[in-house]
Amino acid sequence: MSQVVIDTAASMQALGERIGHNCRPGDLVLLVGDLGAGKTTLVQGLGLALGVTERVTSPTFVIARVHATAAGFPQLMHVDAYRLGSALEFDDLDLAAEVDESVTVVEWGEGKAEQLAGDYLLVQITRSDYDVDETRRVELTGRGERWTTNDLDVIAGP
Ligand SMILES: Nc1ncnc2c1ncn2[C@@H]1O[C@H](COP(=O)(O)OP(=O)(O)OP(=O)(O)O)[C@@H](O)[C@H]1O
Ligand SMILES: [Mg+2]
Repeated sequence: MSQVVIDTAASMQALGERIGHNCRPGDLVLLVGDLGAGKTTLVQGLGLALGVTERVTSPTFVIARVHATAAGFPQLMHVDAYRLGSALEFDDLDLAAEVDESVTVVEWGEGKAEQLAGDYLLVQITRSDYDVDETRRVELTGRGERWTTNDLDVIAGP
């Protein structure tokens, strides 16, 4: 597990970019954090790394959105599981066929989306207890061989 303190939205995007630069087709990233924690902000940076040019927003009502990326990069599948009650409901979306050719990022994915891939990167974002403090603490945890071979300390940054 690696930890980093993120002071601004721009730094959260930069963290997302570092994660994106380390992603390849078939990768799964699960994002944990309260409303407004910065999950979508991180996905915006991850999209930049893959060459997404359109605006990335939470797919709360459509649940899943696929973004085209630059030539040679896997597509970005951005999922928001907030409105889904369970892993079974998640499975009904039938996203599995797309996963192998995508980088799949799931907001509110913990406990619902792990079955999409054998290995995944868990990103846990925690807000400061103080209302005026916009600092976030981010923990990166690799599950499975795919992410234990990556240097999460380097991705997390200083
Ligand atoms: N240190 C920070 N890290 C991330 N975002 C920050 C930070 N400081 C301020 N912000 C702001 O907090 C908001 C985070 O919103 P964002 O949509 O990324 O959250 P979210 O976790 O996706 O929420 P939701 O669960 O509603 O989808 C943005 O407006 C962003 O600019
Ligand atoms: Mg969001």
